[in-house]
Amino acid sequence: MEHPPRILVVDDDLTFRDVLEMRLESWGYQVKVADRASSAAGIIRGWQPDLVLSDVVMPDVSGIELLTSLREDAPHRPVILLTAHGTVEMAVEAMKLGAVDFITKPFNHEHLRAVVEESLDAARRRRKDAPAREGTPPGRDRGELGYGDFVGRSDAMQEVYELLQSVAESDAGVLITGESGTGKELAARAIHRESSRSDGPFVALNAAAIPRDLMESEIFGHEKGAFTGATQAREGVFEMADGGTLFLDEIGEMPPELQPKLLRVLDEARLRRVGGRKELSFDVRLLAATNRDPREAVREGLLREDLFFRLNILTVHLPPLRQRAGDIPLLARRFARQFSEKHGGPERWLEEDTLDLLEEHPWPGNVRELRNVMERAVVLSRDGGITPSHLPPWIREGEGTLAEQDWTFPEGATVAEAERELILRTLDETGNNKAEAARRLGISVRTIRNKLKSWDIDR
Ligand SMILES: Nc1ncnc2c1ncn2[C@@H]1O[C@H](COP(=O)(O)OP(=O)(O)OP(=O)(O)O)[C@@H](O)[C@H]1O
Ligand SMILES: [Mg+2]
Repeated sequence: MEHPPRILVVDDDLTFRDVLEMRLESWGYQVKVADRASSAAGIIRGWQPDLVLSDVVMPDVSGIELLTSLREDAPHRPVILLTAHGTVEMAVEAMKLGAVDFITKPFNHEHLRAVVEESLDAARRRRKDAPAREGTPPGRDRGELGYGDFVGRSDAMQEVYELLQSVAESDAGVLITGESGTGKELAARAIHRESSRSDGPFVALNAAAIPRDLMESEIFGHEKGAFTGATQAREGVFEMADGGTLFLDEIGEMPPELQPKLLRVLDEARLRRVGGRKELSFDVRLLAATNRDPREAVREGLLREDLFFRLNILTVHLPPLRQRAGDIPLLARRFARQFSEKHGGPERWLEEDTLDLLEEHPWPGNVRELRNVMERAVVLSRDGGITPSHLPPWIREGEGTLAEQDWTFPEGATVAEAERELILRTLDETGNNKAEAARRLGISVRTIRNKLKSWDIDR
């Protein structure tokens, strides 16, 4: 594309149009505006914009109707719909009709910018490497953008996006559930970004990653001298997240003795630092996540029931990847592109056989596992096409999960190679949860860390 990308903005709201025009121009785009669909049609014919940003509700025809005619006219031109709060259903309908994305008003500028860049990029690539993708059945790649940073357009994920959007519009607590690697943290960030708190901080605390004896002070902060080693006062995550969103990850790992305090603090919206007297008030929206079934965690006594009820006001469940296999090609391509950029060399593409194998694999480690597999494949396929030989053997051979398989190694394989394969595979299956992998393998977390370091692999 020789000229700067051209963007047409269609909206009947003059102020909004002006703001958008200014923004887009400051990001280096050429911009034209239209106040209704009929005038937009003329501009599109003559000016051939690279992208259309259109309001959904307009006086003459709706954005949906405009979208339909745009699709017929130039099916590859990305169309992003702008929608006011409360028209989520319509936006979902629009996505089904092929809108690339939708953005709710009022919108976050950085988010808009990311979506615009992404869409233009995707369209450019579609034009550029169309020949490389011959052999992919039509309909397999109808634009890959999901919601926020999510990739995937399966029905299951469309429902998730819809839910995330409506959840983002409220200020209630949300419990996010789903297997390891399904995108719980991504969901938490998307909720924050689409919420009225998006200008405030997003603070994440992973209860599984913090030593138990430090947890209380991490969460609630401490005063100087509160315990040996507390040489300075320190804010806890509630204070850090003030005015924004606090994401408590792996809530099932929260020490049971801390849970009553957490509940009290949530109910009162006030806290006292460890060793502190003063009551501090805070304004935080709480999101929590767990990769186990929370009700089971309650039954096992790991999660207090009253805290569970307090957190479980709204629930978002992320389906495992094997239940949305239709998203696998989109995700695989996205990762292939990302890792091609990261590792250099030509932009990798996936051969048909490779896609078939990826679609058949059960992905116990979900999207994270797919991401790891794709990084490995990109590194191995320096000349462009990713073939089945670039996939790990257990996927290549369509063998299902580790536990379901017979293990055979090629003749001449060493114990060191087998060990490495076993550890990496177990990490894949546990979503890089080293503690869980160590437990399954019967070795220590330290051993896993040391091995990874010696192989120069970062997990
Ligand atoms: N739908 C998706 N589209 C694109 N990337 C995704 C998607 N889902 C997950 N990812 C990516 O996969 C990785 C794992 O996602 P994330 O950390 O959100 O999972 P999680 O559910 O929090 O896992 P865990 O329970 O192990 O903490 C991240 O790199 C994330 O960006
Ligand atoms: Mg996570």
